[in-house]
Amino acid sequence: LLRPPQPRPLAGKRVLITAGPTHEPIDPVRYIANRSSGKQGFAIAAAAQAAGADVTLISGPVDLGDPAGVRVKHVESAREMLQQVEAALPADIAIFAAAVADWRVANEGEQKLKKTSAGMPPLQLVENPDILATISKLGDHRPKLVIGFAAETEHLIDNAKAKFARKGCDWIVANDVSPATGVMGGDRNTVHLLTRKGTEISVDSWPVMTKEQVATELVARIVQNFTGTQA
Ligand code: CTP
Ligand code: CA
Repeated sequence: LLRPPQPRPLAGKRVLITAGPTHEPIDPVRYIANRSSGKQGFAIAAAAQAAGADVTLISGPVDLGDPAGVRVKHVESAREMLQQVEAALPADIAIFAAAVADWRVANEGEQKLKKTSAGMPPLQLVENPDILATISKLGDHRPKLVIGFAAETEHLIDNAKAKFARKGCDWIVANDVSPATGVMGGDRNTVHLLTRKGTEISVDSWPVMTKEQVATELVARIVQNFTGTQA
């Protein structure tokens, strides 16, 4: 049977995606991390690959198999993630789904910290580079479409709008990650897509979907944005 060729609306487009948590070492046996399964970012990578894109997925430590046909770079820390993101440029589209640890330990122990009678070890935190903001503010090498996520536990839309202004990205996918939603580690997600024309922000609230459906819908929006056609 002859089947029509699969449409590959993102053929020739380079897409870079971050996913998962980062781990920031305290000493050789301990780390600081965010709760993130990586499922949403991996689903976006698979959906972009299915749409024909050349996909690089830069992932922190997760318990997921690499999506087929996707170039995957495994990293641990935020600084390694930034390095791999920069190495993956140029890209047409960049999607930052990772839950990057905001802080790392400045006085990382070379040896395992031991309990002593002197009290708790003092941990000095320093801020990690903001990968999304760094890439959003690039000049010549800035991807044409930069998409961030805003994971919030309260004041979702207001916080996401403030983040939008701060980060300099083109779109923000806002999601409620409070424990009651089950989004962290779960298979479903309820998201709001924030886009802007000039200073005006529009909010498109999607119904609850699986993370795969969110990924498919997001890729459909990207296709629409790039080609002006429906996927
Ligand atoms: N992000 C990033 N690098 C960081 C921190 C965040 O690339 N060091 C990206 C995330 O991948 C996400 C977006 O920035 O796309 C928003 O992350 P979020 O943690 O919600 O925002 P923050 O600016 O870190 O603010 P806060 O955690 O205080 O809400
Ligand atoms: Ca953060």
